Amino acid sequence: MPRKIAAGNWKMNGLAASLAEVSQLPKGGDVTVLICPPATLLAPMAALGRDVAAGGQDCHVAASGAHTGDISAPMLADAGATYVIVGHSERRTDHGETSETVAQKAQSAYAAGLIAVICLGETLDQREAGETLAVIAEQLKASIPAEATAQNTVIAYEPVWAIGTGKVPTIEQIAEVHDALRAALPDTSLLYGGSVKASNAAEIFSVANVDGALVGGASLTAADFGPIITALSDS
Ligand code: PGA
Repeated sequence: MPRKIAAGNWKMNGLAASLAEVSQLPKGGDVTVLICPPATLLAPMAALGRDVAAGGQDCHVAASGAHTGDISAPMLADAGATYVIVGHSERRTDHGETSETVAQKAQSAYAAGLIAVICLGETLDQREAGETLAVIAEQLKASIPAEATAQNTVIAYEPVWAIGTGKVPTIEQIAEVHDALRAALPDTSLLYGGSVKASNAAEIFSVANVDGALVGGASLTAADFGPIITALSDS
């Protein structure tokens, strides 16, 4: 059975005081709770000693070198991370990351002993053109290294048009993509991401082949994220 994972992506949000939110999260039961705070908070978050996994939000393809402002997978691991998100659509858009780069980043994560949360998803134009499944298949092929296993990799399906917009695909639309992902990756945890909140979490988790969520805005406070963890645990 793929693991159930409730993952929070804090993006460029969070100061030291925000760690109080992590301390207040409910116990996950059979759910792995993962928070990906800004890199500045990884070490203090790991030091909380809570049963919450810590993850980076990106890593460089190289382990070290002359890359001002970047952070490497071994550095994330050294700070206490056990996961790293790669290929988030904001990285693909803001930093021009291709699927090939994403696959190299995932390999760098594996080499550092991290689990890679590899993100993929279609744009609104691609969905309206009926290209969703073709885009997902292409991203899957190019973004996932040959070394990927159900142990070192988690996939997050995040339709670009649903991220931070409050727009959520229909249950049928989520099911269609997750069924296709499951056919390709029978044992890998498959997360849905894009405007997940307490009020829609239970319905999304009822979809076959959805093993959890990657949550942005609603992961920033325990009041918002707690009920999402509970909904996954109850699903
Ligand atoms: P959102 O972001 O939950 O704020 O839509 C999801 C994500 O970008 O991972």
